[in-house]
Amino acid sequence: MDYGTRLIRGSCYHHREREDPSMGTARKYAVIDPATGKLDRRIFSEQAIYDDEMEKIFGRAWLMIGHESLVPAADDFFHTYMGEDPVILTRDGQGRLHALLNMCRHRGNRVVRCDDGNAKRFMCTYHGWTYGNDGALDHVPGEAEAYYGALDRPSLGLIEARIETYAGIVFATWAKDAPSLEAYLGDARWYLDTVFNRRDGGMQALGPIKWLEPVNWKTMVDNCSDNYHVPTSHLSSARVQTRYLGRPRLSHEDQFASPNKHAFVNGHGVTFREADDNAPRYVHGVSSETIRLFQEYHDTTMPEVERRLGTLRARRVQLGNHSIFPNGILGLRLALPRGPLKTEFWHFVLLDRDMPEDLRRVIRIGSQANNGAAGMFEQDDVDNWRQVTTASTSGFGRRHPQDLSMGTGHAGPHPDYPGLVSERYISENNQRLFYRRWEEFMNAASWADIPLDPIKARFDGTATMRG
Ligand code: FES
Ligand SMILES: [Fe+2]
Repeated sequence: MDYGTRLIRGSCYHHREREDPSMGTARKYAVIDPATGKLDRRIFSEQAIYDDEMEKIFGRAWLMIGHESLVPAADDFFHTYMGEDPVILTRDGQGRLHALLNMCRHRGNRVVRCDDGNAKRFMCTYHGWTYGNDGALDHVPGEAEAYYGALDRPSLGLIEARIETYAGIVFATWAKDAPSLEAYLGDARWYLDTVFNRRDGGMQALGPIKWLEPVNWKTMVDNCSDNYHVPTSHLSSARVQTRYLGRPRLSHEDQFASPNKHAFVNGHGVTFREADDNAPRYVHGVSSETIRLFQEYHDTTMPEVERRLGTLRARRVQLGNHSIFPNGILGLRLALPRGPLKTEFWHFVLLDRDMPEDLRRVIRIGSQANNGAAGMFEQDDVDNWRQVTTASTSGFGRRHPQDLSMGTGHAGPHPDYPGLVSERYISENNQRLFYRRWEEFMNAASWADIPLDPIKARFDGTATMRG
């Protein structure tokens, strides 16, 4: 491959490849110019860059892989992915969680072939090696005869990832040297708590609905902080909702005047609303007909939420669209890479476990109608992301970088809110920083080279990492 010379000739600086003595022949990526916001389109289409992402990002980062409520009982399992690698999330007989690579240690056959279930053991259907749900290799046919008792069975368990949870959401990483999940999420948790850590009873995941999109995985992560597109891309969908559901009109004017903000911590991009004291959170499913249900729920649960999160977060901060690095999207939704030009999308709905049934139903339907496989907003979005991805395959087109210059120089620390905070709701600050984070991972030899923002926020209230 010859990114360097082509790129430098084509468009000045973007994707430079150079030798770094400390990294052997590893590539050095410089794909975003923080001063101008110019972004190299090649990262959306080149197979070699994608292969590097699988190793340097998906091989190292803490990845969302599921939720504890998907494996509630002993011996439950749920089949999931870490990047392209198939992984079994299990709860063993003692109630402990495991993330196990679904690859038989003999020749590599998958030992689980279904989406979920309950099993103490997994038998490989090729030659019958059988593993416990904690990953240990329990039985090998012909261990004494065929292997003459010489097989080192204890060393041949399923490969296990590190696993940690945040408020019931399960994360896993292959990196032994990764920091704790708490440090990885950092001050982003200050915002995430306002959705995922509100209630004593925790949350429950429904789903997922899965579908394939002809897009690069980063386009949808980047889009999580893109409020700029909403009044244009979603104009017709929003008009329908204004007319039939009584939802507020969407306009650029309103968005430019909005006091809402973006914030960025450790690769995670959040957008949030500065809420009125007593307004319920504005989620999918809210309409003129259902607002009463939401207000009632808000009022009855507020004392508990305030105890858990403190007054500022409980009453005034409402998390909006957000992404968790690298591929977590708007709640428990996953952009699973399937090659540079394809993404498998997993859409879960997360609901407070103790929410009244009529409200659960309203949110479930609202979530599908907006962002499910046939959701009005989802369809608007995918069409854009596909065009963005396709543009990056053109040898001529990608000589000309993307422009992510919006709001350059208009973000910084804020007295009340953690992270790097944009002055306006409409900004590309989070996107520029997302691609900077991407560079940090791609250029690092190990976790020791990946910077982490220290935790500085004040976490008022009783909520913790464990819920
Ligand atoms: S590949 Fe699994 S037992 Fe041979
Ligand atoms: Fe959108």
